[in-house]
Formats: sequence, C-alpha cells, structure tokens
Amino acid sequence: MTLNEVLYVLLIFIELTFLIAASVYMILLNYSWLKGAPYVATKKKSLKEIINNAKITDGNHIIELGSGDGRFLRTVAKQYQITGLGVDVNPLPIFKARIIARLQNLTTVEFKIQDIRDTDLSEADVIYMYLIPKFIQKIKNQLLHKTKKGAIIVSHGFKIDYLEQYLVNTITDETFKTYFYKRS
Ligand SMILES: C[S@@+](CC[C@H](N)C(=O)[O-])C[C@H]1O[C@@H](n2cnc3c(N)ncnc32)[C@H](O)[C@@H]1O
Repeated sequence: MTLNEVLYVLLIFIELTFLIAASVYMILLNYSWLKGAPYVATKKKSLKEIINNAKITDGNHIIELGSGDGRFLRTVAKQYQITGLGVDVNPLPIFKARIIARLQNLTTVEFKIQDIRDTDLSEADVIYMYLIPKFIQKIKNQLLHKTKKGAIIVSHGFKIDYLEQYLVNTITDETFKTYFYKRS
C-alpha cells in the first residue's frame, strides 16, 4: 500500500466513526423524546438560585428525575452533605454524569439508567425535574401519592397543575420560571 492509500483508508475510517457516533447521539436524543422529554440541560447560571430556594439541608435525600448529566445533583452534592439519586433513560448523559461525579469524588450520589415511572420517590426530601407538561401529567400518581409529607418538589420550566395547592414559591430566570411545591 502506498502512503496515499493508507491516508485514504484512514480518512474513510475517521469519517465512518464520526458518522456512527453522530447517528448514535441522534438516536439517543430521539429516544429521550419518545420516553418523555428531550435532553436539554438546565443552564448552569440558573442552578445557584434554584438550589438556594430548594430548602436543602444536610442529611437530605435528593432525587433528580430525568437527570441528564446530573448537574443539579452534582452541584448540590458539592454544597451539602446529601445522598442523591439521578435517573435517566438516556445512557449517554448518565455515563457523563458518572464520570464527572467520580472525578469530583462525589461518592454519595449515584446515577442510574432507569425510567422515572419505575423510580421510588418515597424517601426523597427534595425532587428536582426539568420535564415537559405532557410527561409531568404521566407521573401525577407518583408525585401526588408516592412522595412523603414535607417533600419539596422543584419543577424547572413548567408548572405542575395538580400540585397547585402545594405551591410555596416561584422564581424566574431570564428564560424560565421554576416552581417549588411542598407536600403536606
Ligand atoms: C430537559 S432534560 C433535563 C436534564 C437535567 N435534569 C437538567 O436539568 O439538566 C430531561 C431529561 O429527562 C430524560 N427523560 C425523558 N423521559 C424519561 C423517562 N421516562 N425516564 C427517565 N428519564 C427520562 C431525558 O433523557 C432527558 O435527559
């Protein structure tokens, strides 16, 4: 093989690898959509105020529903002595969340590839989510009847109509509102 031929084969190989990686990424993005909500991360600059308003204290157990790369949970774990669980159906952001958590030595939070609808919420002191209204309707029974009294439920972006009576606070960033509910 001449050098030109080797370079040609190498180029084809790189292009193919890129195409496959891009296709897998697109398929997984659509998979997130199909399962309930697209993957869009909470803006990092919005996190601080959301966390400050979530009334988190040391010892809390925090669950992030549809955790993506787990930025909410990881940021909380750096500030408080909490335990945490992030669940997401999409393995790519879960993989990223696990890697970063390990690099940051956040040993009390875990990230699972799991459907929100199969997640036990009964031990959560604080639940964080950034989901779309259609899917929020689908977890009505879980949020209304399977969360403990006193639990704080934080919804970034969208109101939870069926929790209206528990609404305790609303904040606004440049794009979205965040709604805070307290189960009683
Ligand atoms: C808008 S993103 C929010 C990501 C992250 N919580 C954040 O705020 O940066 C919604 C996430 O929910 C996940 N998701 C959608 N449907 C789901 C389901 N049924 N079970 C678990 N995760 C789901 C998507 O894969 C996506 O990562």
